[in-house]
Amino acid sequence: MKILVIGGGGREHAVIRKLMESSRVDKIYCAPGNGGIGCDAENVPIQAMDTAGIVNFAKKNGIGLVCVTPDDPLAAGMVDALEAAGIPAFGPNRAAAQIEASKVFSKNLMKKYHIPTADYCVFDNPKDTLAYIQKQGRFPVVIKADGLALGKGVIIAQNLKEAESAVKTIMEDKVFGASGNKVVVEEFLTGPEVSVLAFTDGKTLKPMVSSKDHKRALDGNKGKNTGGMGTISPNPFYTEAIAEECMQTIFLPTLKAMNAEGRPFKGCLYFGLMLTPDGPKVIEYNSRFGDPEAQVVLPRLKTDLVDIFEATINGTLDQIDIQWKKDACACVILASGGYPGSYQKGMEIHGLDEHGQVEGATIYHAGTIKKGNKFYTNGGRVLGVTCAAGTLEEALQKAYAAVDKITWNGMQYRHDIGKV
Ligand SMILES: Nc1ncnc2c1ncn2[C@@H]1O[C@H](COP(=O)(O)OP(=O)(O)OP(=O)(O)O)[C@@H](O)[C@H]1O
Ligand SMILES: [Mg+2]
Repeated sequence: MKILVIGGGGREHAVIRKLMESSRVDKIYCAPGNGGIGCDAENVPIQAMDTAGIVNFAKKNGIGLVCVTPDDPLAAGMVDALEAAGIPAFGPNRAAAQIEASKVFSKNLMKKYHIPTADYCVFDNPKDTLAYIQKQGRFPVVIKADGLALGKGVIIAQNLKEAESAVKTIMEDKVFGASGNKVVVEEFLTGPEVSVLAFTDGKTLKPMVSSKDHKRALDGNKGKNTGGMGTISPNPFYTEAIAEECMQTIFLPTLKAMNAEGRPFKGCLYFGLMLTPDGPKVIEYNSRFGDPEAQVVLPRLKTDLVDIFEATINGTLDQIDIQWKKDACACVILASGGYPGSYQKGMEIHGLDEHGQVEGATIYHAGTIKKGNKFYTNGGRVLGVTCAAGTLEEALQKAYAAVDKITWNGMQYRHDIGKV
């Protein structure tokens, strides 16, 4: 089978590496891919949001399955377009992708179906938003842009001044465009965070092994929110008992809620959870694999990913036994200096071959281009240095040993992944 993967980040590279293990795959294309992905798959110069271009390419090249990986083409209806053209596609359709694309939609869904989440209010203008925050007088307070914002649309304000500045950024300066037409103002929750991705065909839901992201840019969970600076799997806080509780109070109720709303969800549903003193609550849903969660979860998958994708599409997920390795896995993201703010591109990356000296290390490329035999930085998050081992401790130690081999001008990363 020929497979086309949409996107061009570290997550897509992890999906591709797992697909390469399948005996059912003859050829993998990636649109648009990146420098590192191009060594494993054929990069296709079509942008991830070019639905017509993707459908055309899939038809012309006899693609048997498309994995639509990023959030924005899902929200824009790429799966609907592929299905209409008779091409099997992994991922939710437009209606189901709303669970991520609109935080207002997801919060209202949780309220309606009694799924535990932070208390909230929705506003469509700065004046009412600030009046409410001032009246409540409870800080910190969480302010979220309604729509997609590359993982940067959430601001935790410590006082009224910061709240004013957040509301201005989102609703007046429109830094996230139309995503900031509405905001959700949310109660601040505390507790360890857990990411659980799940395969679902709309009838059956099978959670993957758990993971933990590190969203802040700097050591000690300081600095700005990023797309994610590193991950570990499993998440040490996520016990079997908590997993069972989440299944009953969150995962299955969400599946049922989406069905009841006439938006059955097929694909990978991502539960961003917080284990609060009052029990597990939903922080957010995503409609796709997390990045960099996929980089530590997928390496642990033993079952053929093509079989799982197909079962998800065909509604036969109940018939598949999904197996996971006992290993732990750690991923450290190497980012461009300045990220998540402005940063320079085009730095030559040194030491990429030497990582092979560390047993079990894999490097997923997130933002690179290749010129001749050399790789250059081409994004904020550049590489995901990943290692699997018998224990988390060992996986982390080896991942950092591989990180030590790599360098470029301005490279930054967190030194405390898995420690905080
Ligand atoms: N109610 C809350 N209380 C405390 N912290 C919160 C709350 N909501 C969000 N956060 C923090 O902000 C982070 C980002 O929030 P959220 O997951 O909603 O944003 P996002 O932009 O959709 O993220 P992603 O890029 O993972 O999709 C969370 O991981 C969590 O650390
Ligand atoms: Mg999100």
